Amino acid sequence: MKHIVSGIQPTGSINIGTYLGSIQNFVKLQDAYPDHHFLIFIADLHAITVSQKPEELRKTIKELAAIYIACGLDPNRVSLFIQSEVPAHAQMNYLLQTHTYMGELERMTQFKEKARKQEQGVSSALFTYPSLMAADILLYDAEYVPVGDDQRQHLELTRDIAARINNRFGEFFTVPKPLIPKVGARIMSLTDPNVKMSKSDPNIKSRIHLLDDDALIKKRIRSAVTDSEASIYYDKDNKPGLANLLHIYSAFSGKSIESIEKDYENAQSYQTFKEDLGELIVHKLAPIKARYKELINSKELNQILDEGRAYASKHATKKTLKLQRKLGLGRARR
Ligand code: TYM
Repeated sequence: MKHIVSGIQPTGSINIGTYLGSIQNFVKLQDAYPDHHFLIFIADLHAITVSQKPEELRKTIKELAAIYIACGLDPNRVSLFIQSEVPAHAQMNYLLQTHTYMGELERMTQFKEKARKQEQGVSSALFTYPSLMAADILLYDAEYVPVGDDQRQHLELTRDIAARINNRFGEFFTVPKPLIPKVGARIMSLTDPNVKMSKSDPNIKSRIHLLDDDALIKKRIRSAVTDSEASIYYDKDNKPGLANLLHIYSAFSGKSIESIEKDYENAQSYQTFKEDLGELIVHKLAPIKARYKELINSKELNQILDEGRAYASKHATKKTLKLQRKLGLGRARR
């Protein structure tokens, strides 16, 4: 079976950046790749590379699981699981670290950015985070990995590690390809369109969460930073705030940016555009919120996670044992 693999860290509520850059894409790919099975997981081992409050982390793990299904992942097409429940991820991480160079890890821009923000020292797990991510992907011989633009560099490193091991042992790993959406791959903050919309931004006004109530969603869009020229056209360099809103509009509606520009060519201000965008987001998120409420405390959700764990464990354990054998670990077979 061919695999498509991806994950999200359970750190804070899911915002529309993560939704448009990844979850919405997973849902669309289910139809576009009918021959593939999906392994989608909650990257809780990644989350603890920086300090987390245990009770909050556990709550967020469950919330993310419910969000995935509420957004339209089909449990018949997708094995949804929690990363830490499949121990082979941590084992494979270690094996891959033996084929990952310090210099490669030092070059990772996400590490540099996150390390700068740590107040109490930088954990070595944050440094080796990309080899855990490579393990997540290579364990299942993923052919494709749908991610947002900010994960491009980690994917490149994953490909390099896979190629290095293949060079040594013959074709052992599938070398994965990233699948980055055309629109929505990099949604920016609503308060500073020069930085990515992020779960960890201390300014809560910078983002919209999928579970925010309708009035708040509209308010966030109304107060999103734009420029003072009132006409609506795409110019990323000179009008980055508006360009970001156009991306969000396009990704939620499926319309091209050109056709949205045309719809608003006679607008005298941003007001109507912003009101319409607020309405659009509210409308698109309503069924997700409703389904989330049904799922969050259901047996169904637990069952989906159990089945996901079983499928993932079977593949991951087998692949890890195979690599251990290649590396000469353990006893000779009798
Ligand atoms: P994470 O949890 O930061 O983000 C999850 C996914 O959402 C995308 N994303 C965005 N896309 C567009 N605009 C944004 N503002 C935005 N913010 C986040 C990310 O690109 C990502 O696809 N290391 C990963 C999680 C991970 C993973 C993996 C992904 C762990 N192992 C294996 C794929 C395969 C991360 O921290 O994503």
